Amino acid sequence: MAENRGRFITFEGIDGCGKSTQIHRLKQRMEAMSLPCCETFEPSSGPVGSMLRQCLSGRMKADERTMATLFAADRLDHLLNDYDGILQNVRQGIHVICDRYVLSNYAYQGVSASIDWIEELNSEAGKILRPDCHIFIDVEPEVSLERMEKTRFHRDLYETKERLTQVRNCYFSLFDRFQEEENILIVDGSQNADAIAETIWDSISFLFEESRK
Ligand code: TMP
Repeated sequence: MAENRGRFITFEGIDGCGKSTQIHRLKQRMEAMSLPCCETFEPSSGPVGSMLRQCLSGRMKADERTMATLFAADRLDHLLNDYDGILQNVRQGIHVICDRYVLSNYAYQGVSASIDWIEELNSEAGKILRPDCHIFIDVEPEVSLERMEKTRFHRDLYETKERLTQVRNCYFSLFDRFQEEENILIVDGSQNADAIAETIWDSISFLFEESRK
């Protein structure tokens, strides 16, 4: 792909870790610098993503293995569709900031399914485009649940202390496994939002040097 392509930055973490605040801050900062960027999320707003949202809310039921497969299918559609696909944006030089990506699939579905199998499900997406940086915002499950208590009326499928603890452990085992091949930034999410935003920007601003020239 051309060198002047947009960068692809993903945010990861357990539910309630503060991703949305940081995505908003990063986008605002990039816009203020006139860097072309857009924000997106997974499960996506596409047809498979909408089905997944129904499974997460409890409106629809599906086996964990079915969910794992749907998340990977949603990811391919999110990458490739010509309506709002990630690939067409980066090809046009637009930087894409994505709320959750492949590491969420490993960490959440890896609790009950084999990581090797999930890796296989995502192999095609990995050949097409890989994130320039995965930003993981780390908070303890107790902290995330306390935050969600204050802001949400409804708990989604995975939003229990037991599951979030397993998911967080799973994220950390992934970092060991993928540290050679992926660019993963781990940020302490217990700091205040300004400090987190600064840490993130200091670590990733070099990625945008080309488009600032
Ligand atoms: P969020 O919109 O608050 O980030 O919630 C999305 C939920 O979907 C969250 O509980 C994590 C879950 N998820 C998976 O389990 N696997 C995946 O591959 C992705 C992208 C999300």
